[in-house]
Formats: sequence, C-alpha cells, structure tokens
Amino acid sequence: MGKSVTYNDSLTFNYHIGKALVENHGQHLDTETLETILKKHPDRLYDDLIRREFDDIYYLEHENAWLDVVVQNITAMKEGFAQSLAWYALFQACLAKRPYNLFHRKNLYMRTARVARSFGNKTTWDQSFHDAFVRHVREINTAVFDNGHQCRAINLDTCDIDPHPYDLVYIDPPYLNARGVGVDYHGFYHFLEGMTDYPNWRDSIDHQSKHRRLKRIPNPWNSPTSIHQAFQQTIERFADCKIVISYRSDGIPSIDELAAMLSRFKSRVTVSSDDQFRYVLSTNKKSKEILLIGT
Ligand SMILES: C[S@@+](CC[C@H](N)C(=O)[O-])C[C@H]1O[C@@H](n2cnc3c(N)ncnc32)[C@H](O)[C@@H]1O
Repeated sequence: MGKSVTYNDSLTFNYHIGKALVENHGQHLDTETLETILKKHPDRLYDDLIRREFDDIYYLEHENAWLDVVVQNITAMKEGFAQSLAWYALFQACLAKRPYNLFHRKNLYMRTARVARSFGNKTTWDQSFHDAFVRHVREINTAVFDNGHQCRAINLDTCDIDPHPYDLVYIDPPYLNARGVGVDYHGFYHFLEGMTDYPNWRDSIDHQSKHRRLKRIPNPWNSPTSIHQAFQQTIERFADCKIVISYRSDGIPSIDELAAMLSRFKSRVTVSSDDQFRYVLSTNKKSKEILLIGT
C-alpha cells in the first residue's frame, strides 16, 4: 500500500520472518548459499543438542541430526537478510512437519502410528527436511519485493517501543478467551525460538516439561489479571497515533471495554466485524474477528 512499515514481535523467530519479508527489499537466498547451509563442513565442530534434548519428541532421529547441522550453519552466517531468509525457510519446514504445526506436546507418535488416515497430513510430515527447506527457500525468494519505502523489523516487547515516528499503529495481540486461557506463542513455538539461540538453548529449556519447552517468561498479554493493563498502557503509549486493534468478540477484555479504553484518547472509535472467517479446526461458531479503529 506504499507505506513505510515497521514490523515488531517480541519473539526472535518472528523478527527474522519480518526481516526477511518486510524489511528486505531485494535480497534473495542464492543457490551457492543454500548449498553451504545444507552441507556439513569438515572444519566446523558440530554440537548435537537437538538429537540429545529432543529425542522422540518432535522429529525422527535422522531429522534431528539434519537440524543440528543446518541450524548451526545458519547460526554461523553473518546477520542479515540472507540469514533471515534461511531461518524463514527452516521454520516453515519445521512447522510443516509437525502435527497441528505446533510444539505444544510430545506427540511424534501421531506421525509414526500405523493407523488408517482420512487426510493427507502424513505425506507432508514425512517429506524430507531437505526437500521442505528447499521448497520454502524457493517460495520466500518469490515473495521478496520493494515497495519503494524504507521498512524495518524490530524485536521488542510492546512496552519498549518508541512511539514517536508512527502515524498508525496496528496491534494484533494474543487472544485471551473468556475462561482466561490465552494463546501462548512462546509456549507453542518454543522450538523455533530455541533454534535462533542455539548456543544458549540448552540452559533455557525447562527440563521439567515432557516436551522440553523453554522456561516461561511472564507476559502480561497472557493473563486475565494483567491483560487490561497491557492494553491500557499500549493505547496510552501510542495515544498520538491512529490505533487499529484486532481482537475477538468473546475474549478478555470485551470489545466494549476495548472501545472504552480507546475513547479515552480518541474522538472517533469504530468497531467492525467480519462473519466470513472461522479459525481452522475451531468449533466455536460464535467468536467473531473484530477490528477496532481509533482516530
Ligand atoms: C496474533 S499474533 C500476531 C500475528 C500477526 N499479526 C500475523 O498476522 O502474522 C500475536 C503476536 O504477538 C506477539 N507477542 C506476544 N506478546 C508480545 C509482547 N509482549 N510484545 C510484542 N509482541 C508480543 C507473539 O509473539 C505473536 O506473534
């Protein structure tokens, strides 16, 4: 839309996706770099952390060994667009090969069980990491474009962002349902986040958890006792900007509460909804996607 965009997410793996897709205006991942990422370099000493820590949890043993090599090759690249493009392709390959595309449970058995299957996910889960990675490199290379404006990706907690340069702020926070249960992105995607900090990953793992998630980091957006304050502080921080919020009709806070928070700083607040969309696998037919706009 011809805008200068800043993309932010507190998770480092998402920051790389933003850097590869939003900040990057022209660099592609070339074949030579791809080959360097895929091969084991005889002069490099490789750790086997994924093989040791994640045995029988998410992937098969030879897949964990492949990941150990490729993650360390990407880590060894210099920071920049090529590295973020490589991370992007690796994350997509990892997600594609996971039941539910998540890392919330130790459930490799769902993939390996000999059962009659009614749909084709197993074919995707069983494709090789090599093929999935190369496919996603090709895909991201076609998605890079220049909109003629400077764009950026940053990796901050919402409450640490400097509000000054922005005309409009769009926030799409994690959804907390009416029972106070939130979408814990750090918990769902810890494996991708861990890969981005491979040298320190082991020390960050919660070894009490069966699926070896990362130790929890408190996040006010994930709790019914703190989410109101998180919204309030964010709205206040960006009070001089137009504010657009995506949320769901049946969550905490309610849409009326969010509209009231915006009204404290904005003379005009509109609330729109769209009934057309439903979340994949969701049985909740009442929950609507809502857009609040404060100007
Ligand atoms: C609903 S998702 C956003 C999805 C995104 N709009 C998209 O279309 O791909 C919510 C995001 O908020 C991020 N997040 C959670 N807590 C955060 C915080 N305190 N500061 C910044 N980002 C946060 C999560 O990592 C997650 O990616």
